[in-house]
Amino acid sequence: MNKKAGILGVGSYLPNKIVDNFYFEKIMDTSDEWIKTRTGISERRMVDENETTSDLSTKAALNAIKCANLTPQDIDLIIVATATPDMAFPSTACIVQENIGATHAAAFDISVACSGFIYGITIAKQFVETEMYKNILVIGAEALSRAVDYNDRSTAILFGDGAGAVVIGNVDEGGILSTYLGSDGKGKDVLTLPVGDSIKMSGSDVYKFAVRIMGEASLKALQMANLDATEIDCLIPHQANIRIIEASAKRLKLDMDKVYVNLNKYGNMSAASIPVALDEAYRQGKINKGDNVVLVGFGGGLTWGASVINWSIQGGKNE
Ligand code: COA
Repeated sequence: MNKKAGILGVGSYLPNKIVDNFYFEKIMDTSDEWIKTRTGISERRMVDENETTSDLSTKAALNAIKCANLTPQDIDLIIVATATPDMAFPSTACIVQENIGATHAAAFDISVACSGFIYGITIAKQFVETEMYKNILVIGAEALSRAVDYNDRSTAILFGDGAGAVVIGNVDEGGILSTYLGSDGKGKDVLTLPVGDSIKMSGSDVYKFAVRIMGEASLKALQMANLDATEIDCLIPHQANIRIIEASAKRLKLDMDKVYVNLNKYGNMSAASIPVALDEAYRQGKINKGDNVVLVGFGGGLTWGASVINWSIQGGKNE
């Protein structure tokens, strides 16, 4: 029988420093009211001057490994999805490999902007199901506060820092039922982070693309899993803007009580948004064994992806 890949453990880590919208009121022409109503964001986390993407990744990774009841020695491969690596090389994944003592693991980073986590679990699924590797750590992590221009009010207020991680391995029941990935390089100029520079964005173009693609990608992944939208127990969307999330839920005819939202607390953490939301939803008991969980994201590239997961681990409430 073919091996089925699924999530064995999930974890996250957020930096301690909380920056609310009133901070931005002081440094630029904006308001808490505008940010909240146009984006849904109230505050975000920021790394301190000595904290790096690999530091956040390391803490999230250890939490996910613990949740999976494994040790770092059990990890065969580490994939870090990030747009804000510590360095071009060594990869952030190699730094994590040393930090956690995963001495048997290969390691590499992937660059897929905000869709990176879904691309990462898709890669991991292939390796597990072909039996090349047994336990794979997939991390989405960002220190985006280092990549924003604090003179640009249309981007600076949107982003935050954090990390989420999962361990992907063999499951007996459920697992990753489908993943669907896409890209369109024609949209390469719509959302960019030039090397050594800051994020540039055409907000309204990204907005229109996001609302269309979130629904489309979710439906495609559901179709690949032989499910329909009525069978979704929990939707974990990329956390970019509450209006994008609500419009996507509406297209899927899904009640917002089935959609996990935490961008009010963290803003858009790019590759970290989905795994952090997944970890929180699991720990709050919003995802239970047997549930159909849909992950969906979009980002620079342009890129997008969606995945349907039939949840394999017992509820994490009060863990
Ligand atoms: N505070 C106050 N006003 C602001 C502002 C801020 N922080 N940022 C932009 N504005 C202004 C604009 O300058 C514009 O003013 P103008 O009409 O005088 O030119 C006005 O608000 C409206 O701009 P608009 O772009 O129409 O606003 P919007 O309702 O589309 O919201 C975004 C802007 C950026 C919040 C929204 O387009 C968005 O979320 N886009 C998607 C971004 C995204 O998801 N990026 C990451 C993808 S992974």
